[in-house]
Amino acid sequence: MSSRASVTLKIATSLDARIALSNGTSQWITSPQARARAHQMRAEHDAVLVGVGTVLADDPLLTARTVPLPKRQPVRIVADSQVRTPPASRLAASTATGRVVIAHADPQRRATAKGFQGVDFWPVGDGHGRVAPQELLRRARAEGINRIFLEGGGQLAASFLAAGLVDRIEWFRAPIIIGGDGLPAIAALGLDKMSSASRWQLSAYERIGDDSLESWISG
Ligand SMILES: NC(=O)c1ccc[n+]([C@@H]2O[C@H](COP(=O)([O-])OP(=O)(O)OC[C@H]3O[C@@H](n4cnc5c(N)ncnc54)[C@H](OP(=O)(O)O)[C@@H]3O)[C@@H](O)[C@H]2O)c1
Repeated sequence: MSSRASVTLKIATSLDARIALSNGTSQWITSPQARARAHQMRAEHDAVLVGVGTVLADDPLLTARTVPLPKRQPVRIVADSQVRTPPASRLAASTATGRVVIAHADPQRRATAKGFQGVDFWPVGDGHGRVAPQELLRRARAEGINRIFLEGGGQLAASFLAAGLVDRIEWFRAPIIIGGDGLPAIAALGLDKMSSASRWQLSAYERIGDDSLESWISG
């Protein structure tokens, strides 16, 4: 068995692969039916993971709100190198609903962080002050978390893709066009030749109301 947890990247975008307007507005791009499917996907994974940028922008709860509710909520993990997650955020304040983990790279900030109740902290730094995706996945696996649902944002998605750590992409696409001033689903990868671009195989396609869902497998 692999020493790291597997990663499904979920992206909900406009037709032109944008996840937010230039003013930061991102709710809601896809339809209620597509969002309901995304909640089901959360419930099918052991953990949901986002970058701290998403926590600061959207204050998400990240629970799986299916009908009926899942027997067990996925663990909710934030990649947050400097422990910038507000203790009063909906995520950090909801440990009674399910486990919350802050994956960080700054033991000093962690030691002085105040106001967190029941939040777990994983030191998984890369030695340069940033959360190391590979270390985060190793730690997750060691804690019995085998399947991670990565929900962005664009910067964290880019880091996992650049490190070759995304196994599957579930790409919801709404029939709207936002334009190049919108926030890209995947931040800069800095490629300098086409042969370096990762390749993906379409494994399924589905219409969900007016939206589409493409499932892509690394390959
Ligand atoms: N439509 C969608 O599907 C969707 C989903 C999610 C988010 N969004 C939108 O996306 C926006 C937020 O995206 P974002 O790209 O700004 O933020 P993000 O990817 O959520 O978070 C980026 C932050 O994560 C932290 N981080 C920790 N380790 C990292 C690593 N190895 N690589 C990269 N980042 C790491 C960094 O802060 P530190 O250096 O302090 O750790 C970084 O600034 C919001 O507007 C939100 O609404 C849309």
